[in-house]
Amino acid sequence: MPNLQVSSPTSEQTRHRVIQLELEAGLLADKAYTSPKYFYDTVGSVLFEAICVLPEYYPTRTEASILTKHLSEMAHVIGSGGTLIDLGAGNCAKAAHLFPMLHPDQYVPIDISVNHLSDAVQRLQQRFPHIEMTALGIDFSQDWCLPDEVRSEKRIFFYPGSSIGNFEPDIARNFLKKLRSSCDGGGILIGIDLIKDQAILNAAYDDELGVTAAFNLNVLRHINRQLGSDFDIREWKHFAMFNAERSRVEMHLEAITETTVHWQHEHRRFMRGERIHTENSYKYTLPAFLALLESAGFNNARSWTDKDNWFAVVYAHAN
Ligand code: AVI
Repeated sequence: MPNLQVSSPTSEQTRHRVIQLELEAGLLADKAYTSPKYFYDTVGSVLFEAICVLPEYYPTRTEASILTKHLSEMAHVIGSGGTLIDLGAGNCAKAAHLFPMLHPDQYVPIDISVNHLSDAVQRLQQRFPHIEMTALGIDFSQDWCLPDEVRSEKRIFFYPGSSIGNFEPDIARNFLKKLRSSCDGGGILIGIDLIKDQAILNAAYDDELGVTAAFNLNVLRHINRQLGSDFDIREWKHFAMFNAERSRVEMHLEAITETTVHWQHEHRRFMRGERIHTENSYKYTLPAFLALLESAGFNNARSWTDKDNWFAVVYAHAN
């Protein structure tokens, strides 16, 4: 049986209060915002999996094709054994593809959505009984550390899907620095979405079927549950657009009509057209990202891209 733990020293009650205060601060800000981590409740995690197979959402399949094509070369650079730490593991499918080449001794999938993770890792443990598995529920936006169960020699962080793009660049650097400080002798295998034609970027975050719109709107249901608020989803619409100046796709929820949202002893009035900023997804050039990795202390980076240069997978050493 895999080991499953929610790695947080705080009680459930304290954690819930922290979430409420964080959500409240965002909703009461001049320009309202929420953290993208609130996308990932049970429905949101399933919607994200659906996004990943949409024709418009190229990152997942492009990254998969790069991994498939260059996996043996990557394995040669990375070497076998060690502990594979899967950041934002989701259904663990991406890491499972690496096992036959990387032969990790230990696999540590980490995700904010523990329910989703727990089913996936139990299935995976049956397929790979010889790999020790320890699943962790961690929120990377809070202070976090790896428990003692995670072996310290040769830690390979696997951070696919360009999830690093959901951090502001300064926070991304600090996050990478923190990984760097805990993986002596190992390294990081990371997926990066590259800057490209704006029409392709816009379509990827505003698909024809409306799955990304549902994913974005679902955050209001999650907020209603966490905060006891009364958002009416029918009063909001999805908005996504590439901001070239800041090199990021922005997602917002826009009020279709003037509306007031209430929770506990608070309320917030939104004018028609007013938005709640729900996500930034930064896009990098490869040189800019390699410089970021270097500034975080990683070195000897190797990178692989697809034929259109839409996406890159980079391995960088920590020693
Ligand atoms: C998880 N993350 C890398 C996705 C992205 O592309 O920024 C989340 C997402 N948001 C809308 N579509 C996908």
